[in-house]
Amino acid sequence: MPAVVLNGKELAEELRHDLSVLVKDLKPRGVVPGLAVILVGEDPASASYVLGKEKACKELGMNSFDHRLPADTTEDDLLRLIASLNQRSDVDGILVQLPLPAAIDAQRVLRTIDADKDVDGFHPVSLGKMLLGEPTFLPCTPYGVVKLLEKAHVPLKGAEVVIVGRSNIVGKPLAVMLMQAPYHATVTVCHTKTKDLASHVRRADIVIAAVGHPGTITADMVKPGACVIDVGVSRVDDATKVKGFRLAGDVDYDAVAPLASYITPVPGGVGPMTITMLMYNTVYSACRRHSIPFPPRG
Ligand code: GUN
Repeated sequence: MPAVVLNGKELAEELRHDLSVLVKDLKPRGVVPGLAVILVGEDPASASYVLGKEKACKELGMNSFDHRLPADTTEDDLLRLIASLNQRSDVDGILVQLPLPAAIDAQRVLRTIDADKDVDGFHPVSLGKMLLGEPTFLPCTPYGVVKLLEKAHVPLKGAEVVIVGRSNIVGKPLAVMLMQAPYHATVTVCHTKTKDLASHVRRADIVIAAVGHPGTITADMVKPGACVIDVGVSRVDDATKVKGFRLAGDVDYDAVAPLASYITPVPGGVGPMTITMLMYNTVYSACRRHSIPFPPRG
């Protein structure tokens, strides 16, 4: 039987509807959640993600404060901007789009964001709390993956999860989240130095690909009945498209879908969930900063 397609667009719309109700309820209390987004440089993929974040804020009735800076912005200028956003009472979340130009120390920048406004979940304090299983902002892409798995009732307790990719943004935090309560999966993280990647992936009940190289996961690597989550998004030249490119995931979708139990498409799988969880974290932050109870996190 072909795989059930995990439709991230549909789930994202459902969650965004719930969030819009929450945002409406906050208004009479004088609270409008606000997200500041900083983009340095003109990388087209980053610019497109940032546009998506701004659009989502507007659709939900939230404030979005956009800062587009030239590629030659100095680290000091960026730190000064963040320091001013840290002070603003109308800013509940601050996001610096990654990657940053090579001349800027990204870790120093992320550490400068007030941990109480760290809606990306990349601050060392947020990551430390996550590692300890304490409530905090969870990184948006891993959070979105977990929401998709929960929605489909994919069994996680004791499941063999193989994550391919060890980035700070996806692979590492996702491994931490899935190994601990309430999920209790057995997690293996593979990376560029892994010997015999295929042998690890073949053992997996759940494969999560997050490397950004199309065609990394082929059908011969996937156990029949496995759940396959594709986090990769790459632009591949395609003269038949108006924009001259198409988006491709890390998984050979057409070959893997017939043998998987569940699979996420690219686009329309994990991508829409990432922005939704960012909105979720921003509303959560606004509630916390105003001592307003937030519905229990599920
Ligand atoms: N670049 C790619 N993914 C992300 C993300 O989730 N947050 C930020 N800030 N930059 C990114």
